[in-house]
Amino acid sequence: MTPPDPLRPQAAREAPRLPWWREAVFYQVNVRTFQDSNGDGVGDFPGLTARLPYLAGLGVDALWLQPFYPSPRRDDGYDVADYRDVHPEYGTLDDLRAFLQEAHRLGLRVVADLVLNHTSDQHPWFQAARQGPENPFFPWYVWSETGQEYAGARRLLGGAETSNWAWDGQAGKYYWHRFFAHQPDLNYDHPPVRETMLDVVRFWLDLGLDGFRVDAVPFLYEREGTGCENLPQTHAYIARLRTLLEREYPDRVLIAEANQRPQNLLAYFGGPGAEEFQMCFNFPLAAQLFVALARGDARPLRALLEQLPTPPCGGGWANFLRNHDELNLRMVDPADVQVLHAHYGADPRAALYGGLRRRLAPLLGHDPRRLALAQMLLLALPGTPFLYYGDEIGLGDDLSLPDRFGLRTPMAWSAAAGAGFSPAGTLTLPLAPGWPQVNVERQEQDPASLLHRVRAFLHLRRRHPALRTGETRFLDTAAPGLLAFERTAGEEQVLMLVNLGHVESAFELPAPRLDLDRGGWLEGHVTVPAGEVLTLGTMP
Ligand code: NOJ
Ligand code: CA
Repeated sequence: MTPPDPLRPQAAREAPRLPWWREAVFYQVNVRTFQDSNGDGVGDFPGLTARLPYLAGLGVDALWLQPFYPSPRRDDGYDVADYRDVHPEYGTLDDLRAFLQEAHRLGLRVVADLVLNHTSDQHPWFQAARQGPENPFFPWYVWSETGQEYAGARRLLGGAETSNWAWDGQAGKYYWHRFFAHQPDLNYDHPPVRETMLDVVRFWLDLGLDGFRVDAVPFLYEREGTGCENLPQTHAYIARLRTLLEREYPDRVLIAEANQRPQNLLAYFGGPGAEEFQMCFNFPLAAQLFVALARGDARPLRALLEQLPTPPCGGGWANFLRNHDELNLRMVDPADVQVLHAHYGADPRAALYGGLRRRLAPLLGHDPRRLALAQMLLLALPGTPFLYYGDEIGLGDDLSLPDRFGLRTPMAWSAAAGAGFSPAGTLTLPLAPGWPQVNVERQEQDPASLLHRVRAFLHLRRRHPALRTGETRFLDTAAPGLLAFERTAGEEQVLMLVNLGHVESAFELPAPRLDLDRGGWLEGHVTVPAGEVLTLGTMP
């Protein structure tokens, strides 16, 4: 090791560099619904590449691409039929390479979904396996003569599937599936499955991806007498995956989709010598944010944030408001579930799998102020924020579409481009109602638009390290709806006053503060209108 250079005392004082994903803002996007380039009505990689300047200008740092692999798309691509290619409607591997190159040139990192737990029933591995026990691929899946095993495993898609076993007439046996019956689970007890999936990971990292959002993590292994979730074998396999990254691809990231209670979630960061994910999606926070917004009460949210454990091993929380799935309410108190359904579930079609299948904008009544507040809060909280495409313009959803497709509405770019999307696989995806008003072009022209506010806050976050990496301290407020917290990094401190309530609230500033958002100094008694945010900096 080189001894420290006494002539460079500056260097010795430099704070250790944080990994890139700790300071980044992620933007979740589905290639299928973002931008079509060839007029077939389906989004594609050349289209997404053409929109990269928009994303770089928005001020996000990384993209999460939902599955873009060949697939019958009965679960929007989470039913993979080939792990090493691009769906032909989205383009070619070369189109993906060109996209990655351009994203990297613009300073954007790219992670993609990695669907480890299951394949499509159309995957050649399953097609071979169904030929029966003589076929070498038979042990790649989980089979049963009776369909009675693992009775302790809950059904994740209650309502859509009646059992975790499905009968396969060709094999003359039952096969195991945690999700839809057309998504047979891979058998991780079979060594070739474990090794092949690690090779799939290498394939994409060699191509230049910066990491993965790993789908359905808790369900990789099954054991009799358990709930078949979070098993030690699953943790051991993830630790192997992490070791592969550390040894062969440093600086890439693994993000866990594990919709679990905090204690079980924490285990997915791993421990010393057996690290697992760098980030886990913060499902408990997402639900609580909507409870706070519905009740107009910030106190339970503050309690959750203060009690949230610090992830071990240098890990971090991946915070989000909405994504492409229903708002899951499994971890919400029954009294709050009732409030949420009463507040957000006015349309009975919104209810799905015990949660609510709605995008951010309809949940918040299409109110630009509350939409800005929710996204500014997300961007200011400790953790790594993930935005869902379209939320920056308040894109609507479409409850007439089946399952969760209604909250995967195509990005609306302009009032003229309405016909841009039509047949997508087996589904027709019209633009969300309201697109003639809610689109990028229109909001670009209006300096008071949601898009301008969200973009301005993203850039403000970039200028203020305290908002990205600062220590967080919550302050007492007299108004139940007012959330007040300070983020401090070195000399810099930013005070956030977020009024989740339905009435104007007051706050006593201990010292003069600069309004970082609107400019000007504030001191003493300040009032925060309902649904408004004040972002206040210290004296330079
Ligand atoms: C979680 C994904 O987010 C969801 O959309 C999908 O249906 C399941 N995993 C199964 O892959
Ligand atoms: Ca296309």
